[in-house]
Amino acid sequence: MGAPWWSAGVFYQVYPRSFADSDGDGVGDLDGVTAHLDHLQRLGVDAMWLNPVTVSPMADHGYDVADPRAVDPLFGDLAALDRLVAAAHTRGIRLLMDLVPNHTSVAHPWFVAALAADPGSPERGRYFFRDGRGPDGELPPNNWVSVFGGPAWTRVSDGQWYLHLFAPEQPDLNWDNPDAPADFEKTLRFWLDRGVDGFRLDVSHGMAKPPGLPDMPDTDIALLTHRDDDPRFNRPGVHAIHRAIRAVVDDYPGAVTVGEVWVHDNAQFAQYIRPDELHLAFNFRLLQADFDAVEIRNAIDNSLAAVASVGSTESETHRLSSRKRSSTGTPTWALENHDVTRAVTRYGGGAVGLARARAMTLVLLALPGAVFVYNGQELGLPEAELPDAVLQDPVWERSGHTVRGRDGCRVPLPWSGDAPPFGFSERADTWLPMPPQWASLTVEHQLGDPGSTLSLYRQALEIRRERAGFDGGIEWLLTPGGVLTFQRDGLVCTVNTGAQPVELPAGKLLLASGPINGHQLPPNTAAWLA
Ligand code: NOJ
Repeated sequence: MGAPWWSAGVFYQVYPRSFADSDGDGVGDLDGVTAHLDHLQRLGVDAMWLNPVTVSPMADHGYDVADPRAVDPLFGDLAALDRLVAAAHTRGIRLLMDLVPNHTSVAHPWFVAALAADPGSPERGRYFFRDGRGPDGELPPNNWVSVFGGPAWTRVSDGQWYLHLFAPEQPDLNWDNPDAPADFEKTLRFWLDRGVDGFRLDVSHGMAKPPGLPDMPDTDIALLTHRDDDPRFNRPGVHAIHRAIRAVVDDYPGAVTVGEVWVHDNAQFAQYIRPDELHLAFNFRLLQADFDAVEIRNAIDNSLAAVASVGSTESETHRLSSRKRSSTGTPTWALENHDVTRAVTRYGGGAVGLARARAMTLVLLALPGAVFVYNGQELGLPEAELPDAVLQDPVWERSGHTVRGRDGCRVPLPWSGDAPPFGFSERADTWLPMPPQWASLTVEHQLGDPGSTLSLYRQALEIRRERAGFDGGIEWLLTPGGVLTFQRDGLVCTVNTGAQPVELPAGKLLLASGPINGHQLPPNTAAWLA
């Protein structure tokens, strides 16, 4: 059997609110995505991952799901999703939905029923309802804090509290209650039966809670971050949940799951991609590394080590001895997503930030495994500076206006024209305002410029495609400090993170992320040679 399609796949992440608006309400939608599939095809990606489009009050832009088996009217309807899946498939592009197993919305019928029911009722048993501490139960049941700020507990009118690791509008589901896995199976099959090709699974390391919900030793955790010593995540029990999910997905050959797994320990990370769990797990090391040769190399080495250490399945309840499968996982790579500051800005902003982001593009696309590109990354979009008044990320309110949150990387994409809304919508007041300075960053503008970031992505992806099938590991070549060079099946990728130009390695220059002077690789530049 050959390698599965996703093992070297390029996945394009579509943030549906911000991709393209077909109905003039200032918010992107499914028909908008369908209308712009040319863009994905020109890029030459294998698949798209759609952030949540299911029914939601949008307290966390779709990660608060009220009905996991229906499309939110903001984005269209099931027919619009079917149209998108069919149009994408016609172009050879697969589609992954985003599912949220860890929590629901407060508007989910289960939570509505739980609120109406009594303490101790089966309805409340689907979530974590507890009595409070203190004489009148006026203190939360434990000291847990929300990833978005403030306590992780909210009190209801009869005095009990419910758990939400994220916003209060996102109550955590109790996966020990059989209703949770049973309903999730229904959701998986619902979308797979409609022809979707797999799922990104939100907070994949979060569904199993520590028995008894003990206090956490350290509540001083930066908002929006996940630490390995946080006892609420990465519990051993989460693996049985993944095995059950995989057993369902295996009924649909070719379907893939990619989990959001914030676990830095390589051995523990590897457990999530054992042959009977997730197919892929996001490794966030590369997007957490500065533009620094040592940090980038460590991120790459660690990400490769993590997947190299995947063992065979080891479960008392689910032994696979009769069908032993490969024990090496597939690495995944990303420089951006909808939760982190845009790379151009992270690497310093302005011309330098852009040059570095472009250089990192050549590093990213030379690596073995599955690559994720977040919409707008291929345009070199910087983080947008937004006025306080328009911020929507729940973390802005929950942090008492101290953490601005993730809106700056979620601004709508500029497609064409010279002024906002740049072809994104018919309406000028898009859900987040678009910077007027983005006129030179539109898709239209960049398509006509061979030196644009979009052209760089297209050329790099074309070379990656032409070399498809090359799946060797990487070999580091000796380089001066500040420079990183690796070789993979005859392709040499070199990046200069230092302050001085350096001699290019030997070979034929295939592509460079910026101007090359003779045989010199300038700072903040990368090149591919053969
Ligand atoms: C991770 C998602 O990527 C993020 O956007 C969301 O806010 C949290 N999970 C909660 O669902």
